[in-house]
Amino acid sequence: MDKFGFIVHPISIESFYDFLWFWSKFAKILPKETVKNIMLKFRPYRLCSFNKIRSSSGPIISGEIVALPLLPVQIASIIKERVLDLIEEAIRVCEKRGAKIVGLGGFTSVVGNEGEVLSKRVDVPLTSGNTLTAALALEGIYKAVRLMDISLPASTAAIIGATGDIGSICTKILSKKVKQLNIAARNEGKLQKFANLITNYGKAKVKIFKYTKDAVLDADIVLTATSAVTTVIDPVHLKPGAVVCDIAMPADIAREITQIRDDILVFEGGLARIAHMEDIKSKELAHIVPAKGVFGCVAETMALTFENKFEPYSIGRGNITEEKIEEIKTIAARHGIVLSDFFCGYKFFTEKEIENIKKNAVKNRKKNKCSSKTKSQ
Ligand SMILES: NC(=O)c1ccc[n+]([C@@H]2O[C@H](COP(=O)([O-])OP(=O)(O)OC[C@H]3O[C@@H](n4cnc5c(N)ncnc54)[C@H](OP(=O)(O)O)[C@@H]3O)[C@@H](O)[C@H]2O)c1
Repeated sequence: MDKFGFIVHPISIESFYDFLWFWSKFAKILPKETVKNIMLKFRPYRLCSFNKIRSSSGPIISGEIVALPLLPVQIASIIKERVLDLIEEAIRVCEKRGAKIVGLGGFTSVVGNEGEVLSKRVDVPLTSGNTLTAALALEGIYKAVRLMDISLPASTAAIIGATGDIGSICTKILSKKVKQLNIAARNEGKLQKFANLITNYGKAKVKIFKYTKDAVLDADIVLTATSAVTTVIDPVHLKPGAVVCDIAMPADIAREITQIRDDILVFEGGLARIAHMEDIKSKELAHIVPAKGVFGCVAETMALTFENKFEPYSIGRGNITEEKIEEIKTIAARHGIVLSDFFCGYKFFTEKEIENIKKNAVKNRKKNKCSSKTKSQ
């Protein structure tokens, strides 16, 4: 049976407790700062295994999940060479346990240029999983837009983290489908260069924004995929009726948004459903992986394993093409890997709830119009 490996890291202290099995009860009584300091001393280790994951078309594979016990903020702040050494060690754990391909989850791909650096150090093929993640995020947006009665060709889409690996391919594809693109990232020079490229790529008018807040104000669609370690979007700035697809891990928008704004359809982008979700149930990943979904990066690693495609796949920043998006979608579909239902912060949206969001959006748009009229009088 072919096996894949996947590297995960906790996104919060709470998710780290799940990584500690029975030791978690001791960790929970320690001050969080002490736990964070202890984490810096850990080495990567095998967290759990999946012994039998079934494709919808026959193949059965297995998987090894290896933990790099560092928080996103720690990965982003400790010396890059040290982080790369730890990720390499994690890859070697997968390799030793028989993995024929290894997926780099969350921030483990963000460092080292999306697996490019580490690809040169190990023999096993790597993938960041970003191609399927981007494909699923876009598919989710198209579905959400239809459900929310937004006209895609007449819409304004804001892309936060537009110059990133996932953000850039999504921006390119959306530039052919929407009327206006509001793109944002911190590095203004890089953003301007990217805006020039996009203007010639699609038909959308492109506007660049230094501040996330200004980019989202008039957006009907928001796709956010930054590598920020804290949230970057304040729910109050979003337009009633907007569709928000948050791919980032940790999240770019606080999951409490579903309690604050009842007039917005917000979902975690890049989530998939596999043919037999029961095959990948895991206590250790309870705080990271949603109950009825699997992250696109893991789903891509599984799809490549089902397909016997043991080669570096999503590697290096800015290399994802429209052709590659189509290819991975086809491979994934062949094995029953499809877009998950809309999900945000342990909440799945039912059709009835989406109808209510639409009604609330109409109500709030009217309210906003009235109050701006009163202000101008
Ligand atoms: N859901 C999934 O299955 C899945 C799969 C893979 C990755 N991810 C997540 O997706 C996110 C993006 O991954 P990636 O590989 O595309 O990362 P990336 O290539 O490093 O791109 C990150 C982008 O975010 C921008 N950025 C960083 N901090 C920002 C801030 N504070 N405000 C605005 N923009 C900011 C960066 O530009 P500047 O540096 O110029 O600001 C860049 O454009 C990460 O959170 C990753 O963990 C999720």
